[in-house]
Amino acid sequence: MSRKFYITTPIYYVNARPHIGHAYTTIACDTIARRQRLLGAETFFLTGTDEHGQKIERAALAAGKTPQQYADEISAEFRQLWKRMGISNDDFIRTTEERHKKRVQELFRKLRDNGFIYKGTYTGQYCVSDELYVDGAKPGDPCPTCGRITETVHEENYFFKLSAFQDKLLALYANPEFIRPEARRNEVISFVRSGLRDLSISRSTFSWGIPVPDDPKHVIYVWLDALANYITAIGYGSSHAGAQEAFKKFWPADVQMIGKEIVRFHCVYWPAFLMAAGLQLPKAIVAHGWLLFEESKMSKSRGNIVRTETILDVLGSDALRYFLLREVVFGQDGSFSFDALVQRYNSDLANGLGNLASRTLTMINRYFKGEVPYPSGAASRTAADDAIADTARKTIREFATLFDQFQFSRALEAAWGLVAAVDKYIVENEPWALGEKQDEESRSRLATVLYTAAEALRIATALAHPVIPEATAKIWTQMGLGDIKKLALSELTWGQLRLGTKLGEIQPVFPRADKSAIERMQKMEEEQRNISVADVPAAATPAQTDAPQMVAAVGSPTAAPAEKSDKISIDDFIKVELRVGVVKVAERVPKADKLLRLEVDIGSEVRQVLAGIAEAYAPETLVGRKVVIVANLAPRKLRGLESNGMIVAASLEGGKPVLASFLEDVPVGARLK
Ligand code: ME8
Ligand code: MG
Repeated sequence: MSRKFYITTPIYYVNARPHIGHAYTTIACDTIARRQRLLGAETFFLTGTDEHGQKIERAALAAGKTPQQYADEISAEFRQLWKRMGISNDDFIRTTEERHKKRVQELFRKLRDNGFIYKGTYTGQYCVSDELYVDGAKPGDPCPTCGRITETVHEENYFFKLSAFQDKLLALYANPEFIRPEARRNEVISFVRSGLRDLSISRSTFSWGIPVPDDPKHVIYVWLDALANYITAIGYGSSHAGAQEAFKKFWPADVQMIGKEIVRFHCVYWPAFLMAAGLQLPKAIVAHGWLLFEESKMSKSRGNIVRTETILDVLGSDALRYFLLREVVFGQDGSFSFDALVQRYNSDLANGLGNLASRTLTMINRYFKGEVPYPSGAASRTAADDAIADTARKTIREFATLFDQFQFSRALEAAWGLVAAVDKYIVENEPWALGEKQDEESRSRLATVLYTAAEALRIATALAHPVIPEATAKIWTQMGLGDIKKLALSELTWGQLRLGTKLGEIQPVFPRADKSAIERMQKMEEEQRNISVADVPAAATPAQTDAPQMVAAVGSPTAAPAEKSDKISIDDFIKVELRVGVVKVAERVPKADKLLRLEVDIGSEVRQVLAGIAEAYAPETLVGRKVVIVANLAPRKLRGLESNGMIVAASLEGGKPVLASFLEDVPVGARLK
């Protein structure tokens, strides 16, 4: 009986196109899944898309599509991207699939039958972006997780008795393997220790979700729906015998990988739901950090994303995989930059493993007619050869230990330590000089040196395979070793490379990249941004010279219009994120004559913005009106309220503001340029 291994990524929200932040989670899981397969485990690797909820419904609306159309499109983008990257997932679940919907309803019934669900009234704050109930917040308060303004919810709901699980959860966290890394575990423990309130698990004010069984006015809370994917995909709640068997075989999951911002859902709610349903708990929840770009978390709402496709086009999938796992200390945040990517690519892949492969194999071709020579006779051996063999053996052990602790960067560092040691060994033993001589002794020595180099190359290649599958598969065939997927990694040891192995055709696997690669990638990203901006049906025309100067109506009352001579470049302008929003709520701010408090929906989220337009606009005339907002302005406090952005208006003589608007209809969330 073979060991089974079940690994999951979070399922991705379909309100954003995939970027390398998403690719990061997927790549980490793919690498683990590939290693497990080589180790002989029957592996199931699951990923998919999270398609219900208010956030998706709103994003679809802003895009002028039905939620289903919208979800279909973006879900397909994720699937196609993973396919293009050669991600080895065994299934791709969508929460809008029938199989999932039915099984989630089964889970809901189970929780209800087991006595953990009751009806009550929820009044409180909700963060639509995180799809999170914010305990203890007041209207207008920001979400403690993402900082966006929470919305008030007042509705009859179904509640889950989360409070009943406090002690059981704390007992669960006593196992240090359950939440990793340690820092996340401590966070969760203190959160649960501070007390758990029952959780609202249905919504009735919108309909984009899975209906509550026997009460279809309600839809199931999107996080209960989404978390359930990990069991519905492998057959939970199905009446088919095959599905039931798969569930029995693969559940509980061995590793559930997540980003650090969704720890609470996975480490508190998820195990509580499972316990309530009488199901086993996953063995480990492993949280990674964020990929930062230009110093903040790469995300759609910040507009600082890097597309995976750009890197695939220029350097290929292995380059991205290697970079992310080597450069980012797993568990911590890590910065992405094109410079660092190309530097790593050149130093470790082109000049490192790639060069070791081509120089070693080329010399075997030249001096031994393309057949692996065997180290002959003790006389031709030196301590240097044994040192390489020892380093290789040690590297196999270290790599396994570090990798199993999810310390990918250190595991790769160890493997590349072997590559560096062999490079040095080749330089010191000068096989090219030995190759010029014909005497017996030189031939023997040459055979030993090239065998040693090739065997070390084979071991480094085998270890690196889960991380850089394409290039290592090529090196493997060039070495005449066949299909690398058949490698039995658990048996990998020094000395398995057989005498007389015939090399295949030798080709460089990592062509060197020059500076132009960086420029090309940057240009591709730039163009992509321009395309999305050009999609805006009617961009605001720049102010004419005789028109009133465009200034912010509020927020920076001291900011003077720019001097005529203060020209800025397009790069400076592009830093200002102007977006179309629609006013959802408008009200006066007590004791501030000029100020209105607005809640503006900008597609991806709802922002609280304070605007000094109360003398020109009655609040009730603004609700439903489209406005232009500066979306990436640092938040400021005015009269004790946080303003997240700024409404754009023309300032007439006497200071009367006139809101910028459009003649044509424009979608909410569209960017101006
Ligand atoms: O949270 N750096 O979906 P999501 C690193 N649907 N990882 C990042 C990242 C970044 N800049 N941006 C995104 C959800 N991610 C829910 C999950 S699971 C039942 C439901 C990663 O699309 C991060 O790991 O917002 C996060 O966990 C994952 O993408 C999904 O994010
Ligand atoms: Mg997210």
